[in-house]
Amino acid sequence: MLLEVRDLHVEFRTRDGVAKAVNGVDYGVDAGETLAVLGESGSGKSVTAQAIMGILDMPPGKITQGEILFQGKDLLKLKEEERRKVRGAEMAMIFQDALSSLNPVLSVGDQLGEMFVVHRGMSKKDARAKAVELMDRVRIPAAKERVKQYPHQFSGGMRQRIMIAMALALEPALIIADEPTTALDVTVQAQVMDLLADLQREYNMGLILITHDLGVVADVADRIAVMYAGRIVESAPVHDIYKAPAHPYTRGLLDSIPRLDQKGQELYAIKGLPPNLMHIPPGCAFHPRCPMAQDVCRTDEPPLYEVSEERGSACHFWRECLHG
Ligand SMILES: Nc1ncnc2c1ncn2[C@@H]1O[C@H](COP(=O)(O)OP(=O)(O)OP(=O)(O)O)[C@@H](O)[C@H]1O
Ligand code: SF4
Ligand SMILES: [Mg+2]
Repeated sequence: MLLEVRDLHVEFRTRDGVAKAVNGVDYGVDAGETLAVLGESGSGKSVTAQAIMGILDMPPGKITQGEILFQGKDLLKLKEEERRKVRGAEMAMIFQDALSSLNPVLSVGDQLGEMFVVHRGMSKKDARAKAVELMDRVRIPAAKERVKQYPHQFSGGMRQRIMIAMALALEPALIIADEPTTALDVTVQAQVMDLLADLQREYNMGLILITHDLGVVADVADRIAVMYAGRIVESAPVHDIYKAPAHPYTRGLLDSIPRLDQKGQELYAIKGLPPNLMHIPPGCAFHPRCPMAQDVCRTDEPPLYEVSEERGSACHFWRECLHG
């Protein structure tokens, strides 16, 4: 495994109390593999990613338990300086909002080039040539001319391509993309997602793709991990999940995807709201919203049951869900 997160726990200690944002996450990704991480807002997707990247807000955040093994090393045991070397060069992150992640007063060429000057000791001229090459790679037209322009002179989709180029610059083994296309309109979303998937294959990178849109992952992901209240509630190869979910929450997410053949029909929505992370319900955290809940769900927390060798579900009634 390229990356393996084991039993990760993260909490935020605030004046109002302790928010348990991540409560025992296990997931992994191999070289050349794409793991999609799904779940509603607040389920802990970004916090887990920030812990992996070493950019968690600490305090108020605190990693209270777990291991993050990257190429066999536990990142949580590294000194900050060693950690910094891993970040950027060996793993990189793409965020939703390129405009606030890019430097507004530096040309795109200078920002891309800087990666090569700082990390590879290249001359400014060579770094500029590399920047143009990267812009070509992410299919920005007229790269040679546009390399001198500033972030605000690019469209949203083009800016997102620049972010992808920045992430790719040092050819990291792992990329984490946190809602990389959410801010874009639908056609551009698909183009950027295709580009990311192509590059991931070409560079044989591990990719963690965070999204709350199950619709976009079908074509690009190998595996899906579904998060709820800071835990993985279902983890499986993508095709298994689409064939039949083994967790009622996954089923709810699937049923809420708009489908062309159901145009005009009212869209299904999972009832209720995600839990307050300062007071996560006992038993199965999903029970107040679950259409299949029984008494046992209110008292006994389901472990991640083994559905098959490649698949787990944290539901006492995964069999009924799978066949229902
Ligand atoms: N800096 C912070 N300070 C306090 N609490 C935080 C902080 N960052 C995250 N949290 C807590 O962690 C929870 C999980 O946040 P996270 O950003 O991982 O959600 P997410 O799954 O990425 O949601 P979204 O889909 O909205 O991006 C939040 O609901 C919040 O309670
Ligand atoms: S354990 Fe119970 S409440 Fe939780 S998802 Fe399964 S059926 Fe629903
Ligand atoms: Mg997030």
